[in-house]
Amino acid sequence: MPCRGLCIALLAGVLSGSAAGGPVGDLVGQGVVRWYADEEARTLELPSFAVVKPLEPQGPVPGDFPVQVVFGRDGQRWTASIAIEEGTSLYGTGEVAGQLLRNGRVTECWNTDAYGYKDDTKSLYTSQPWVLAVRADGTAFGVLADTTYRCEIDLRDGIVFRAEGPEQPVIVIERDSPQEVMQALGELTGTITLPPKWAIGYHQCRYSYDPDARVREIAEGFRSRDIPADVIWMDIDYMDGYRCFTFDTKDFPDPAELNEWLATQGFHNVWMIDPGIKLESGYFVYDQGTAADVWTKTADGQTYQGEVWPGMCVFPDYTNADVRQWWARLYDDFMANGISGVWNDMNEPAVFNTPSKTMPEDNWHRADAEFGGPGPHARFHNVYGMLMVQSTREGVMEANPGKRPFVLSRANYLGGHRFAATWTGDNSANWYHVDVSVPMTLNLSLSGQPFCGPDIGGFAGNGDGQMFARWIGFGALFPFSRGHTAKGNIDKEPWAFGPEVEATARRALERRYRLIPYLYTLFADAAGAGMPIVRPTLFADPKDPALRSEDDSFLLGGDVLVVAQMQPARDRVVVMPRPIDGVAWREFDFEGFDGRRDSEDPDQARLFARPGSIIPSGPVMEYVDEKPLDPLTLIVCLDAQGKARGRLYEDAGEGWAYLDGEYLETTYEATRIDGEVVVRVAAEQGRMQRTDRALRVRVLLPEGSEASGQGRDGTDVHVKLK
Ligand code: GLC
Repeated sequence: MPCRGLCIALLAGVLSGSAAGGPVGDLVGQGVVRWYADEEARTLELPSFAVVKPLEPQGPVPGDFPVQVVFGRDGQRWTASIAIEEGTSLYGTGEVAGQLLRNGRVTECWNTDAYGYKDDTKSLYTSQPWVLAVRADGTAFGVLADTTYRCEIDLRDGIVFRAEGPEQPVIVIERDSPQEVMQALGELTGTITLPPKWAIGYHQCRYSYDPDARVREIAEGFRSRDIPADVIWMDIDYMDGYRCFTFDTKDFPDPAELNEWLATQGFHNVWMIDPGIKLESGYFVYDQGTAADVWTKTADGQTYQGEVWPGMCVFPDYTNADVRQWWARLYDDFMANGISGVWNDMNEPAVFNTPSKTMPEDNWHRADAEFGGPGPHARFHNVYGMLMVQSTREGVMEANPGKRPFVLSRANYLGGHRFAATWTGDNSANWYHVDVSVPMTLNLSLSGQPFCGPDIGGFAGNGDGQMFARWIGFGALFPFSRGHTAKGNIDKEPWAFGPEVEATARRALERRYRLIPYLYTLFADAAGAGMPIVRPTLFADPKDPALRSEDDSFLLGGDVLVVAQMQPARDRVVVMPRPIDGVAWREFDFEGFDGRRDSEDPDQARLFARPGSIIPSGPVMEYVDEKPLDPLTLIVCLDAQGKARGRLYEDAGEGWAYLDGEYLETTYEATRIDGEVVVRVAAEQGRMQRTDRALRVRVLLPEGSEASGQGRDGTDVHVKLK
């Protein structure tokens, strides 16, 4: 294995010779270094799409900076190599199938329509040229190859990036822990804004619920069965012949009325828009776009045409601000139908009638100067989807200025989490995909996209009840939790597989809704500090080598460990984090709709609380904020010193007043004093008034027992320990 000391010694020689053309670097933040191949590479630097603010040099690279980058060439590609010490574990690399630990794997950043992808599919829908490295001692660094061009990430021997196009800088973040690296990545690439609270409820989708009567049937299906859900999705069949921004007059004659009715049932709605615009004169989007000359061109200046759902299409050139502005304006009338959220799909962009499944790399974009000026598709391919959702988001926000936008995108690029959530594309209903949906969600989260999740139940193929039950048993706890399936498949709503699976799904979703107070607090943390919402179990103890490849479990925030069984046999042995000062993580559960503990259902993931944590939870709701958070229940897991702390973030769940201080963030503290535990408010922030509500406390004790007590929120609550 490469040795860190030797490499540093070798590199020191290279560095000292940097005037002669070796790598040159600048310190651009505390523990953050930007490396260039040489002085000339500085002059070739293109504007970064990932990094939000220009990074100003703050001085030379400190002599003891532990991560060095060696630049080189491999044919037409430039390369950047980083040696790793033995025992270094690698993660991230964006949206990737397969296990959590990425050592030994090769990924290619090239946004691809990858229907039915498998373990060895090298490119999926999004591109994040980023690696998180955790050393044996638990310290960590992150490496970002700041290029939008096709870029291979080869982790077979250290970290090697091989990219097309001009040599771009490589940014290295050095920190004491992987958590700190993730926060620093958030500082570099920005954070999500807090989504509307309904978007963290459960979403139900299929390709397609059609006609509108079927949409109503699905909504009623949830409500009549008391299965919590917040959102119903409209896939492409609502359109008139797959023409974006139109509605099929027969099957969806009155979308505004449908959305209004859904709202009366406590449902929000999301409608799909693709980038491929049907080439057809007389169709208003095509006519407008043609008049404004917005379409992406071929190398010889013609309008590029490619086939997608509606037949031959043209594609907006989102690299141009005027085009983005035009696209954003299309949402004015669209959103006026009471539309709550937008789903942008096929934006790699996917093209059916080409072997490459996308547009030619020499297509020409008339990009703005801020993006480096005009250039070939090869340069903009990986950001095409990101720029589309940036524009969509602007349109959605301008149409509904008082509301928080929700946009879901299939394609994206590092930093694109600022504009849209991501799902992991067209997976399949098989046990491989059940299994990888956890590590995929984790690696995407470790690549800067906190709002993500898979198609629960599987997009391609049917699967069966057992698979669905198991999938929703942990999938209900993903940041983005949505059931979806392809055309022609069996029904996959939570009740579609009979009463037993329905009970499991209801239990799983009731759990999600009980945990919404905690989950929403995690979204606030992702928006504030850039922390992922789901995190690998190794974050519980980055020094523990046994956790490095553990991906049958994951952490929800820092305090809840979710242990799932992704194989029919339930025979996987999960490595648990070590006890903290002798106190083990404690299992907890909830009482289900039928009075049974949900942990008695073997298809539910098991939940454990971190010693020293307080987890806020609430009553079951049919949809988010259906009722007040009353009682508020704090689940307390004391540490070895008999203490615990936890936070609860609350706001209106919609709108922007929280940015002006209209929120309440409470830090609760629990202390064991003699034979009781006292829970009190240790700190609070924000202007929002605390509601007068009951506060219940559950103290988790050894061997599954509990002590409980209650009082009023805001006052001390005493729990007697028997
Ligand atoms: C793509 C999407 C899928 C969607 C389908 C039809 O395959 O990935 O989610 O249902 O297109 O719009």
